[in-house]
Amino acid sequence: MIQPARAIGWASHLPDEVVTNDDLERTLDTTDAWIRERTGISERRVGGHPPSMAVTAACEAMAVAGCEASTLDLILVATSTTDQHLPAAASRVHDALGANCGAFDINAACSGFVYALVTAYGFLATGMKRVLVVGSDAMSRIVDWQDRGTAILFGDGAGALVLEAGGDGGLVTYDMGTDSASRHILYCDVGSKLQMEGREVFKVAVRSVVDSIQRALKAAEMDAGDIDVFVPHQANYRIVEAVCSRLGIPCEKSVNTLAHTGNTSAGSIPVAIAHALERGRIHDGDTVLLAGFGAGMSWGSAIVRWSA
Ligand code: COA
Repeated sequence: MIQPARAIGWASHLPDEVVTNDDLERTLDTTDAWIRERTGISERRVGGHPPSMAVTAACEAMAVAGCEASTLDLILVATSTTDQHLPAAASRVHDALGANCGAFDINAACSGFVYALVTAYGFLATGMKRVLVVGSDAMSRIVDWQDRGTAILFGDGAGALVLEAGGDGGLVTYDMGTDSASRHILYCDVGSKLQMEGREVFKVAVRSVVDSIQRALKAAEMDAGDIDVFVPHQANYRIVEAVCSRLGIPCEKSVNTLAHTGNTSAGSIPVAIAHALERGRIHDGDTVLLAGFGAGMSWGSAIVRWSA
């Protein structure tokens, strides 16, 4: 165990406005059947504002944790779609909560929440007691809604987790990496729209996630059979299936919110964690595997022994 910690609060937030595949059929050369078959997505939420979604998820997670904001030692927000160059979105969460700790953003695109979570455990290891970790993105702001190669995939959402040092569970191990030579296959220039080579991203995602999880399992002296719950980044259900099949993890162990959320970037994994917890799919003592990937091309895996 690298760092013992309990998850004492969690929440997710999705904006109200729903865009279904049928809606997209009316404006794009695509079909509901094609989108569902090639991605597993049926609908996504749009109209989100990353700092506001982060605030809502953070406030609810703190309410679940039942602790005062003044007891937080750090606020981390993973986002790549926030609306100001500065200050950080974390500053707005800090203000809304009335916290008096440090607060900053992390941008590792869709890998952002895993990176922020590992960073949080790192700060707990240096002596902090409580850290709030949030992932929030509004991909609808940077997607070109006329581009069927990307518009079908993305949505908006946020999730938050409050970690407290101590307990029987915590971070068992992690793996992070970046294939920076491939950064041109998925990017978004400031003030512009997302550009993506979908097929290439698919291949890099499967390869990098499988390799990353294998490294994390090896470091933990575990094998795929030790994983109780797999929370993958929600990008494309075929990516999840390919990763599960290559690693020998039954797909039933994976948590999937994708059908109703699309890819919410840094919001994806914490939304899926909250979804799984609310349905009783994660129990104390479970070995939970988190795996993210995204622009960079970045990836990150974390193996957590769950303790709430
Ligand atoms: N609706 C209908 N047809 C579509 C389409 C759409 N939305 N998008 C592409 N097509 C067509 C293509 O033009 C192509 O037609 P052709 O055979 O006549 O040339 C055909 O469908 C197959 O295209 P391809 O790009 O090979 O499809 P795919 O199975 O790879 O699916 C993605 C495309 C984008 C869904 C898939 O590559 C993907 O999900 N990639 C990963 C993206 C991702 O996860 N990004 C975020 C990372 S964090």
